[in-house]
Amino acid sequence: MKKEKNRVCPVELAGSLDNKIRKWFQNPQKILAPYIKEGMNVLDIGCGPGFFSIELAKMIGKDGKIFSVDLQEGMLQKIRNKIHGTELEERIKLIKSEEDQINVPEKVDFILAFYMVHEVPNKNSFFETLKNVLNEKGQFLVVEPKLFHVTKKEFGLTMQIAEQAGFKVTQGPKLPFSFSAILKNG
Ligand SMILES: C[S@@+](CC[C@H](N)C(=O)[O-])C[C@H]1O[C@@H](n2cnc3c(N)ncnc32)[C@H](O)[C@@H]1O
Repeated sequence: MKKEKNRVCPVELAGSLDNKIRKWFQNPQKILAPYIKEGMNVLDIGCGPGFFSIELAKMIGKDGKIFSVDLQEGMLQKIRNKIHGTELEERIKLIKSEEDQINVPEKVDFILAFYMVHEVPNKNSFFETLKNVLNEKGQFLVVEPKLFHVTKKEFGLTMQIAEQAGFKVTQGPKLPFSFSAILKNG
């Protein structure tokens, strides 16, 4: 059961993460507007096919930079195809990570982990690594799916692990079918 919960979302399901219907109830610009300013450095960890990365790249403008990181090269290729030949190609740095190695080369002002933390087997090491990647005044938005994947208890336990790693956990935005929290460097 636990093993199944940690299974990564396969590339074949990328279409279910990146479509117009999802935008109706999870509009990236609306969700992220309170946290993003032009010129920021941001990290989209577990970016998948880029549903959030593309909009984040637009929001940070030409002076910003986004690291879009995923375990699966197939997901990164979907983003590469979308931004090829556009101005976003300059802003989006695609990084293939390993299970316990995130490989982000510099600190960031904002981290997004949308519907991905439940796929991470070693959450202690995950949050400890990201604690070092986030700037002192930075914010880290964690969103997890309620339906089928994550119970309230499990989300609470995940936030306890984030606290043990040194994050201060605060209330996140209210989003349909989801749990959320904003983590700060405590
Ligand atoms: C359900 S998808 C969500 C994608 C995207 N955040 C979204 O909301 O559209 C989860 C993604 O996280 C990636 N992932 C899982 N564990 C990871 C890890 N330890 N490091 C980086 N990416 C990871 C998977 O490959 C998958 O693309």
